[in-house]
Amino acid sequence: MSTTRDSFQSRLGFILAAAGSAIGLGNIWGFPTQAANNGGGAFVFVYLIVTVLLALPALYAEMYIGNQAQKNPVGALQDACEDVSRNLGKYAGLFGLLGAILMLSFYTIVAGWMLAHALSPLMELIGFTDAAIWLGESSHARNLAFTPVFIILGALIINQGVSKGIERWSSRLMPILFVLLIGLIIYILQQPGANEGVAMYLQPDFSQLQDPMLIISAMGQAFFSLSIGVGGMMVYGSYMKKNANMGQLVISIGALDTLIAFLAGLLIIPTLFVAQHLGLEVFADGKLIGGPQLIFSILPTLFDSMGDIGVYVALVFFSLMSMAALTSTLSSTEVPVAYLVEDKSYSRSKATILVSLIVLTACMTIVYNFDSLFGLIITWVNTFQLPIMGLFYFIVVGWIWKRGNQLADQALLASKPSLKLWGNYLRYVCPILLSIVFISVIMAL
Ligand code: PFF
Repeated sequence: MSTTRDSFQSRLGFILAAAGSAIGLGNIWGFPTQAANNGGGAFVFVYLIVTVLLALPALYAEMYIGNQAQKNPVGALQDACEDVSRNLGKYAGLFGLLGAILMLSFYTIVAGWMLAHALSPLMELIGFTDAAIWLGESSHARNLAFTPVFIILGALIINQGVSKGIERWSSRLMPILFVLLIGLIIYILQQPGANEGVAMYLQPDFSQLQDPMLIISAMGQAFFSLSIGVGGMMVYGSYMKKNANMGQLVISIGALDTLIAFLAGLLIIPTLFVAQHLGLEVFADGKLIGGPQLIFSILPTLFDSMGDIGVYVALVFFSLMSMAALTSTLSSTEVPVAYLVEDKSYSRSKATILVSLIVLTACMTIVYNFDSLFGLIITWVNTFQLPIMGLFYFIVVGWIWKRGNQLADQALLASKPSLKLWGNYLRYVCPILLSIVFISVIMAL
């Protein structure tokens, strides 16, 4: 086992890396469409409540376990479960690791589509019209080309290590993403039709609050958005100086993630209304079209119809999506890589190559069985994997883990009432709340 463990060099670097993991397609695509179809501001309101009450505590628990152990998620959960059974921790860690690979298997395919759509306007600008058309149209060949390209991009960063790879690239890409997003919002809000979208987004339709599915959707969205449940945030927490103030860090990460999701809503929903103003069909069965059709059909058609500037808008939009997706894949790739390096004595480059090949195989299995597997794996990860692991983190921090756990240290808790309150919240309230939501999901299936 290596003696010097790579780590984040600064708090800001850590926050940007973790925010990079959190801010992804879930924010820019998932959040706005969920909001639009679930009562606009009412969804935003429920989302905020669920995030504060459940998702941020789960993120805290995940990062805290990693930070205390200073090990990859398999080793960290083994340590935390020591008093009960190291094997329980080990298998839970491996279950999370499997979730990381499953999550990468669909996410990378979609990320590849984003990259192809980002290159398409570039090709158009330099006159390669045929290439531009090919890149903009979904095809098997494009999946076969762009999924590996995206995996290689992520692998190149992961191979450089935590500080020189993950931290450096997240610190570069996240500010660019923010500037591009603001630029796009400013541009779109000036287009005819945009105001109607802003109104739909911000005016809450509280009648939708009666629908219990709203809470379930908001919770699924919050867990996915904060990357909870596959160990990515745990491994990042482990690369932060031990005993760092995890509470403060979690609040910063949650605030950034929610801010970007909220801003993405201010971009996507008005954009759809601009498209409608130009005569495009953006509603189906009374709901805003939200799936792949929104991103890969309506938006490109809209950009095309914007005249000369459209090609630049498309370039910026899909570059933003590609960057958001890239920093999101880093944390889940780091989970198996750190495990192989620390527990199986692999060199970092060998581990990166092996994990990339496994992810590639998983992606290709989906590409070749797209109709049966793609939706199934997304549903599995979102509906089962993330909440089950979230629940497990609460149980570990609240009940299983005794030695070295500040939240279980009676002497410490006696001297700090706020810590005691927080410990009890994680111990009792969170697992009960999460179980209620989880059981409702199962019953609604
Ligand atoms: N948080 C990412 C998003 O919102 O797109 C998705 C994600 C990334 C989930 C990494 C899980 C993960 F480990």
